[in-house]
Amino acid sequence: MEIIIKPDYDAVCAEAATIILRAWKKKNNLVLGLATGKTPLGLYEKLIAIHKNGEIDFSTVITFGLDEYLGLEETNPQSFAFYLDRHLYRHINIRPENIHRLSGRPSDIDEHCRAYERKIRSVGGIDIQILGLGRNGHIGFNEPGSSLTSRTRLKSLTQETVKANASLFEDEKDVPRFCLTMGIGTILESRLILLLASGEDKADIVARAAEGPVTAFVPASALQLHPQAKFILDEEAASRLALKDYYRWTQENKERLSSFTRKE
Ligand code: F6R
Repeated sequence: MEIIIKPDYDAVCAEAATIILRAWKKKNNLVLGLATGKTPLGLYEKLIAIHKNGEIDFSTVITFGLDEYLGLEETNPQSFAFYLDRHLYRHINIRPENIHRLSGRPSDIDEHCRAYERKIRSVGGIDIQILGLGRNGHIGFNEPGSSLTSRTRLKSLTQETVKANASLFEDEKDVPRFCLTMGIGTILESRLILLLASGEDKADIVARAAEGPVTAFVPASALQLHPQAKFILDEEAASRLALKDYYRWTQENKERLSSFTRKE
């Protein structure tokens, strides 16, 4: 696990965009897993900007949405399908057939979730999974108590998550109580995981996820088990990390390391 501390939110998004761009240059048919919420908005803006200036072509990129509210149609502005379309897809040249999403209205929930897992496998797995972090430690909608080996499935949202997301709905009672989400086991199979967090209100949970015990009580702590998980944080989100100075030090030293590996 790598902790990358950046001065502010903009730099967090720029770092994630640079990692994606670098990966795309090596593998044009990159498979991305995409989160919604406030945190990745700046990253999506940066991806759109680098697409518009001709640095990245999305025509071969494949995407998978991380989660979806149960009960909402794709055309509902509160659905995650709508969010990804509004904040990313309609601004880039991704092919509609390369966009994969969990349906908010599947006719058979279990089969839909199994088919989603099969689809991920059929394209060779997810190369880069983008994650935000819930204040209760959730990743995707894997709420506290989710099995660390869980697969894509139906989940009940916690009251806390319903409240946190209520501002996007007219009334709290309109917030769906259920969702479909990739499981923690599904997420852990991604080759690279980028968890983005920004702001003081994430500082406590960032510290618990990165430095606390691995526990289903804090789903994001499962990322400690992943060989290629990067937490990209701004100063505020990193402020309660015990080993903050060490993480900074290792980042500063990275340049020296490249002098050992640079090809002649
Ligand atoms: C979104 C998702 C959630 C959010 C998390 C943080 O697809 O699965 O886990 O990433 O709730 O949300 P924000 O970024 O709004 O603080």
